[in-house]
Amino acid sequence: MRAHEAGALHADFGQPPMWLRPPADVNALMKELWPKTATKDAEGVLHIGGVPVTRLAEEYGTPAYFLDEEDFRARCRSFREAFAGSEVFYAGKAFLCKAVVRILAEEDLYLDVCTGGELATALGAGMDPERIGFHGNNKSVSELNRALDAGVGRIVLDSFAEIERLTELARARGVRPKVLIRVTVGVEAHTHEFIATAHEDQKFGFSLAGGEAFRAAQRVLAEDVLELRGLHSHIGSQIFDASGFELSARRLLSLQQRVRDELGSELPEMDLGGGFGIAYTSQDDPQPAADLAARMNKIVDDECAAAGLSRPRLSVEPGRALIGPAIFTLYEVGTVKPMPGLRTYVSVDGGMSDNIRAALYDASYSATLASRASHEPPILARVVGKHCESGDVVVKDEFLPADVRPGDLLAVPGTGAYCRSMASNYNHVPRPPVVAVRDGQSRVIVRRETEDDLLALDVG
Ligand code: LLP
Repeated sequence: MRAHEAGALHADFGQPPMWLRPPADVNALMKELWPKTATKDAEGVLHIGGVPVTRLAEEYGTPAYFLDEEDFRARCRSFREAFAGSEVFYAGKAFLCKAVVRILAEEDLYLDVCTGGELATALGAGMDPERIGFHGNNKSVSELNRALDAGVGRIVLDSFAEIERLTELARARGVRPKVLIRVTVGVEAHTHEFIATAHEDQKFGFSLAGGEAFRAAQRVLAEDVLELRGLHSHIGSQIFDASGFELSARRLLSLQQRVRDELGSELPEMDLGGGFGIAYTSQDDPQPAADLAARMNKIVDDECAAAGLSRPRLSVEPGRALIGPAIFTLYEVGTVKPMPGLRTYVSVDGGMSDNIRAALYDASYSATLASRASHEPPILARVVGKHCESGDVVVKDEFLPADVRPGDLLAVPGTGAYCRSMASNYNHVPRPPVVAVRDGQSRVIVRRETEDDLLALDVG
């Protein structure tokens, strides 16, 4: 077992495990993976926004996702400041609800949606449509019509069929939508295959190497009903190495130059997508937004200067980097099953229905005992859910105190992105609530699903 598999919070071997350290020490350790206001008190109880999780569990039950609102806002601000002069679109697929939309609007961010449902959430919460970007490789006619009727600020074109479709719909409505062309730049992002998106053999965008991207620009520019604003690329997710973004920017700018030289059009915008990695375990070392922004800006400045291009206005679309670390999941321990010579299975009251990422992407997480201190030595544990499937794992390997027992609360950090948004009702398990905590106050922003909610869909 490698150190990082052993659990993030206390993977620095040779040191006492986290629950045996003095609170000051623990709180220093927590900085990397936990929301900013998370601390542990002298009794070992985890607090968020000034509220102990023991109280939150009593009030809202478990499992539940807790959002550190201050942390989320701070991340929004740090991206906005890092990318000053650019537009920051929050990628709503990471996690979206009306309260999040309102926070984004207050923090002066833009929003990227990719379905009618996400669009409805954004509009329902009063997001300025001009600040919405609409993505998707298979937007339906009705979704495109809704986007046009709402007047969304950008539609990101993904296929020739969609160019035709949108042209027709826009003409029929007498509107002129602003569009971007999604380009497949052929950059291999070093991430899980399922979340890498800029290599050639996949469903998104127009290929740069194959010439489709240029032809798409040609096609759109020939159509006066569409206003081509720029090129777009999203190379994948959970990326730590900025060089992929640099290469992608360089390639987009070479296409931009060709569009200017051969089609006589200087495109005013360029979108470099999202994908900025976060720490799921203490072995992950994400780059600060400011460093990423500086590298991206520099490459764009340099390339534009070299090619004599006017510099396009940049935009980025971080999802995970904004919401991921701001939320943790709180579970209650049920069954504890020691497997001599192997490990101890610690079952919690949720699982793959509230976090599918370990099962789907082999994602690593960590966990901590959140409701009390312990003076017991560490045991190797696997945190599993309550679903009827052996792949129902939440945290593959973690050291937990040997006396971990039913009724304990376990907290898993870094579950803000793609956990509630990918949650399912597998085994008819209702989906957990999302509770925002700030300055000693908590409020439900997505209520817990009930069995009645589930049964309400059954007909007959
Ligand atoms: N922009 C576009 C066009 C995207 O497709 C995505 C993510 C993003 C931005 C935001 O990426 P982020 O900054 O959040 O990495 N379910 C997977 C992730 C799929 C991402 C899909 N597109 C996961 O759980 O890791």
